[in-house]
Amino acid sequence: MRVLITGGMGVIGAEASRKFVREGYRPVVFARHRDDKLVGDILDKIDFEPGDILDMPRLLGVIKQHRITHVVHAAAFVGAVSASNPALSIQVNVIGTVNVLEAARLFDLRRVVYTSAKGVYGPFTGDYGPPRYKPIPEDLPKNPQRIYDSAKLMGEQAALYYATNFGVDVAVLRFATTYGPGKTERHGKMGVTSQIVEAPFNGLPFTHPYGADAKDDFIYNKDSASGIFLATVAEKVPSRVYNIGSGCGVGLNDIAAAVRKRIPNAVIEIGPGDNFLGMPYQPHGVYDITRARNELGFEPKFDIDRGIADYIASLERMRAQGA
Ligand SMILES: NC(=O)c1ccc[n+]([C@@H]2O[C@H](COP(=O)([O-])OP(=O)(O)OC[C@H]3O[C@@H](n4cnc5c(N)ncnc54)[C@H](O)[C@@H]3O)[C@@H](O)[C@H]2O)c1
Repeated sequence: MRVLITGGMGVIGAEASRKFVREGYRPVVFARHRDDKLVGDILDKIDFEPGDILDMPRLLGVIKQHRITHVVHAAAFVGAVSASNPALSIQVNVIGTVNVLEAARLFDLRRVVYTSAKGVYGPFTGDYGPPRYKPIPEDLPKNPQRIYDSAKLMGEQAALYYATNFGVDVAVLRFATTYGPGKTERHGKMGVTSQIVEAPFNGLPFTHPYGADAKDDFIYNKDSASGIFLATVAEKVPSRVYNIGSGCGVGLNDIAAAVRKRIPNAVIEIGPGDNFLGMPYQPHGVYDITRARNELGFEPKFDIDRGIADYIASLERMRAQGA
């Protein structure tokens, strides 16, 4: 197996690259720009190829040159930057994905793993929202609200179209609310899960006006990477679309408690309410991950306490390395 990871130096892609390295593979990382920050420890164990997924000749050239057999498609134009530039969001997230699928068709690749997002579901209402948070199954009707989430859904649908019509073997992974080192201003409001850890880590207070009553499904980036790895190497992906989350409802105060365990003088204050992203709709919900468990053997290893412990340890490591 020779795997190409598009966006393999991004927040999720970097953990996926590390997971493949740990499992004994040497991934080829394809990204628009080089950013070593999250992959400093594995730089000698990956091959970096600069390129844009909108540049089809370049993409095809890299796949051919490295005799790629599998693609993890984690390059994307993420939420906050999508909101201010919808045209580019649609180009990168939809046309870029179609380019990857077309390349897979032309080279008869073994599998494409597409990284999608919880936002494709749209608002979680009725039983699926607060206070019941009934587990969300993959076949819940979709109603994406943001241009980014609409583009991600179109990417999913393109992937399934290529599977049905051209025999391209695809797996679609819908990540829950991810957290871990590296989430930046690119991730906009989604960055709350970083700020609540990184502000105290940097000796700063974290105050958030609303959302303490919300429950959400938080998945640590290393668990997301495990999901990616399993979906890549699985013999078969019968259902094709999988929720990748913790399957548990957790609130910001649970995260705060885990942070305070490691940083006892952390100042964290969160106001009331059941929407900590301040979205004009209800974005929080808890996944049913039965399908990923049964078909991929996926089992999240980081509950919130372990995830926060690992997150802080990673920040300490990165600080020591001067990153
Ligand atoms: N982080 C999250 O909370 C989250 C949640 C759900 C789903 N996802 C999905 O996971 C994937 C990875 O997200 P992330 O958070 O790691 O994003 P990120 O912004 O950290 O990384 C994206 C990477 O893609 C690269 N890239 C962007 N446009 C490109 C282009 N045109 N050509 C080549 N490379 C390009 C960037 O250089 C970057 O390395 C995305 O598909 C995203 O939709 C992320």
